[in-house]
Amino acid sequence: MKYHQLPQALFEKNRAKFVAQMKGKSLAVFNSNDMYPIGADATFPFEQQRDLFYLTGVDQEESILVLFPGAVNPKHREVLFVRETNEHIAVWEGPKLDKDQATAVSGIETVYWTHQFESVFADLMSEADTVYFNTNEHYRQAVETETREERFIKKVKEHYPAHTAAKSFPILNAIRGVKEPEEVALIAHACGVTEKGFRRVLGFVQPGVWEYEIEAEYLHEFVCNRSKGFAYTPIIASGNAANILHYIENNKQCQAGELLLMDVAAEYANYSSDMTRTIPVSGKFSERQRQVYEAVLRVKNQATELLRPGILWAEHHKEVGKIMTAELLELGLLDKADVQGQSEDRPAYKKYFMHGTCHHLGLNTHDYGELKTPITANMVFTVEPGIYIPEEGFGVRLEDNVVVQEQGAPKNLMKSIPIEAEEIEELMNNRKV
Ligand code: GLY
Ligand code: MN
Ligand code: MN
Repeated sequence: MKYHQLPQALFEKNRAKFVAQMKGKSLAVFNSNDMYPIGADATFPFEQQRDLFYLTGVDQEESILVLFPGAVNPKHREVLFVRETNEHIAVWEGPKLDKDQATAVSGIETVYWTHQFESVFADLMSEADTVYFNTNEHYRQAVETETREERFIKKVKEHYPAHTAAKSFPILNAIRGVKEPEEVALIAHACGVTEKGFRRVLGFVQPGVWEYEIEAEYLHEFVCNRSKGFAYTPIIASGNAANILHYIENNKQCQAGELLLMDVAAEYANYSSDMTRTIPVSGKFSERQRQVYEAVLRVKNQATELLRPGILWAEHHKEVGKIMTAELLELGLLDKADVQGQSEDRPAYKKYFMHGTCHHLGLNTHDYGELKTPITANMVFTVEPGIYIPEEGFGVRLEDNVVVQEQGAPKNLMKSIPIEAEEIEELMNNRKV
C-alpha cells in the first residue's frame, strides 16, 4: 500500500455502529473481492470490497470478517480471516499481513487463516439463528459478475437452510453515508492530491497538447503523492467532447479557443475525491464561454448553500433545477414558452443539464448513503451542475466536494482549488515555461 496506515480506531467505531443494529442471535459475514482476470496469467490490480475495508481496514485478497456480538466465546465476537502467507508467497508477491499485523490494522484480536474459515464458521452458525448477507443494493449498481460474496451466499443458503437471512446493506447504507472525522480527513487529503494535479495541469495546457498528455500529468502528480491513481476513469474532454457525459477516450488534440472539461480526481487510501474543472485551452475564456461559466458557478454556489440538514436529496435537486432554469433563460438557451410547456417529469432545463446535482462520496465515488431520508450533518456530497451546449461546441461542469454541517453552509473540501475564471486565467498565463 502506498498510503500511510489508517487509525484502527476508525474501523472499531465502524464495527460498533454495525453491530448496534444487528438482531439477537445473529452473525454477519463480509467477504473480500476476488482478483479479477484479464487473460492468460494477468489480473487487474486488487481493489478491496469497500464494506470489508470500512469494517476492518484490511486491504488484502481472500480476507473475511465475521461479526457475532452474541457469540458464547467472547473471542468469537469479532473474527478476521486472512490468507496464510508463506515463503513462496513472500518471494513472489511480497509480504502479506501476519496475524499481529492484521490485528494492528483492524483492532480485531482474533485472527485465523482463511483456510480455517469453514470449520470456525460451522461452529458459529450452530449458535446463531440469523445470518446477515452483504448483498449490493446500491441505487446505481449494474453488476453482472458473480462476486465472491455472492458465491458465499449461495453456498450458505444451501448448507444452512434453516437459518434466517438478514440484509447488511440497509445498515451499511445508513452508517457509511455519515462520515467519521477520520473519513472526512481522508477525503480532504484526496482533494489535496487532486488540487496538486490540477495546478500542475494549469501550467501545462495550451493549444496543441493532447488529452492523454493531460491525463498523464495528473497521474504523475497523484502517484507521487501516495495515491494509487484516479478515483474513477478520468474524463478529459476538449471542445464538443464535453457534451458526451462519459467521454473517457481522452485521445483528441486540444485546439485554440476550445474549452476543456476535466472530471478527474485522486483516490487516497481507497477514499475518493471527485472534481470537475473547465478551463480555456488558450488561457482566456471567450465572452460567451465566460457567460456560461459564470452561470454554472453561480448554480454550484447556490446549490452548495442549499445542502443543509433536513432537506431531501430529491427536493434539493428540484430546487437546483429552478435556479438552473433561471440561468438558462438569462443565457437565451431557454425561452418562456419552453418553461411554460414543461412538466414535472420533463423540466425544460434537462435539455442542457441532464444529470443529478449531488451524490454521496466516500469509499466509493458514487458512495453508499441514505437518499430517501433527510440529509444530515457529516454527509459528504459532490455538487456538480453543468450546462452542455453541443450546438455551440462546448460544455461546462464544475464539481466540488462538501461536508454537510450541523448549522450553516456546508464546508467545501475543494475551497482552495482554483475555480474563479480570473484566477484560472491568471494561473494559466503566468506559468513558468
Ligand atoms: N466523476 C463521476 C461523477 O462526477 O459522478
Ligand atoms: Mn466527477
Ligand atoms: Mn461526481
